[in-house]
Amino acid sequence: MWLAMLMDWLELGVRWTHVIAAICWIGSSFYFIALDASLQEPTRPDPQVKGEAWQVHGGGFYNMQKYLVAPAFLPKDLTWFKWEAYGTWIFGFSLLVLVYYLNPSVYLIDTSVLDISVRDAIPLAGGSLVIGWFAYDWLCRSWFGQDTRRLALAGFALLVAVIFGFTHVFSGRGAFIQTGALVGTIMAANVLVIIIPNQRKVVADLLAGRTPDPKYGYIAKQRSLHNNYLTLPVVFTMLSNHYSFTYSTRWNWLILTAVFVAGFLIRHWFNVMHTGAKPDWRLWPAAAVPIAAAIALSIFGQAPAPAPAADAKPATFADVAHIVDARCHVCHAARPTYPGFAQAPKGVMFDTSAQIALQARQIMTQAVTTRAMPLNNITRITDAERQTIAAWVSAGAKLQ
Ligand code: HEC
Repeated sequence: MWLAMLMDWLELGVRWTHVIAAICWIGSSFYFIALDASLQEPTRPDPQVKGEAWQVHGGGFYNMQKYLVAPAFLPKDLTWFKWEAYGTWIFGFSLLVLVYYLNPSVYLIDTSVLDISVRDAIPLAGGSLVIGWFAYDWLCRSWFGQDTRRLALAGFALLVAVIFGFTHVFSGRGAFIQTGALVGTIMAANVLVIIIPNQRKVVADLLAGRTPDPKYGYIAKQRSLHNNYLTLPVVFTMLSNHYSFTYSTRWNWLILTAVFVAGFLIRHWFNVMHTGAKPDWRLWPAAAVPIAAAIALSIFGQAPAPAPAADAKPATFADVAHIVDARCHVCHAARPTYPGFAQAPKGVMFDTSAQIALQARQIMTQAVTTRAMPLNNITRITDAERQTIAAWVSAGAKLQ
């Protein structure tokens, strides 16, 4: 019991740190994108300064100046922005291991999607993060990478293939987090392997009085741009796990693809807006289309409720209480008995009749409409039992 509680605290601590690091990463990245885009002609002409911005924050005034390649003087004490990215990945990956890879049969595997063993699922999930990075990196360095548009199209095709693959191997929830983990890994690796080393080469050249090769700046910029467009969808993949209607339908791979498209469009609007140019307002309705499609797919993609048998008796509360007891109570109790659960998930408990009756709607949503519960059907609820719950709720969820 206390061990499970300690694990929960560990998970909370890791999650907390991951989210804070991610806020810092995205915050600094958005800040620099906006700063870069808002640069104007310097107020006092200086041939070395490419642009400047005046900003006010916290009672002080800041005059930000951008030196493009070679400032005459470069102090050794440069602030580098990298630990935000590394910290996000390190704690994010730890969280992935704690929640998913240590509990694969609860969260990662859904035998109704693919009957895959724990021994196969974990290396496949972890290995796909490594292979995914190399495939993306190869794409950027290949012929595709010579042209931004061509690379974007190829990258998008690869992304859709990955989402489709994940949703057909892992549970819906596991597939979404795997997609987020892969994209997050690519973003962090872009910083570690490409952006920072290239910046180091430029700085070393400058300190030695050499003119740096502009190709380093170009490559770093390309990867930085990818990271920028991926931020909104990657945060969605992290949050979607708490909304089973996003991933518990057969169209889940299309839903996630649609969200990526919407995220790219919205990000693009902001990027243009920061330059001071008039961004195209049609990007908003354009982004609303994939979101509307995602909503429709989540509604119409639900498995049809099982049809009642012709001779079915009206469902009574006793029937439902019996089902909930057998299929849900191991986890949803003040003292869960399912291994690894220290307390009732999300505080949802079915210890008393009143608790069951009060949560009839939620039981209906989770066990019948989205079929998200029992989690990956660990407790093997039958279609007939789901039907009994549906019949009881639609007859008014009465206690008698
Ligand atoms: C193996 C353990 C387990 C079993 C069995 C289980 N659940 Fe859950 N349930 C969970 C977990 C974990 C969550 C939290 C999911 C999350 O983080 O989004 C949850 C969440 C819920 C929620 C809250 C959903 C929300 O997003 O607010 C409801 C309602 C629920 N379960 C109902 C049920 C019902 C009804 C059954 C039986 C048919 C059931 N659960 C069986 C583990 C379980």
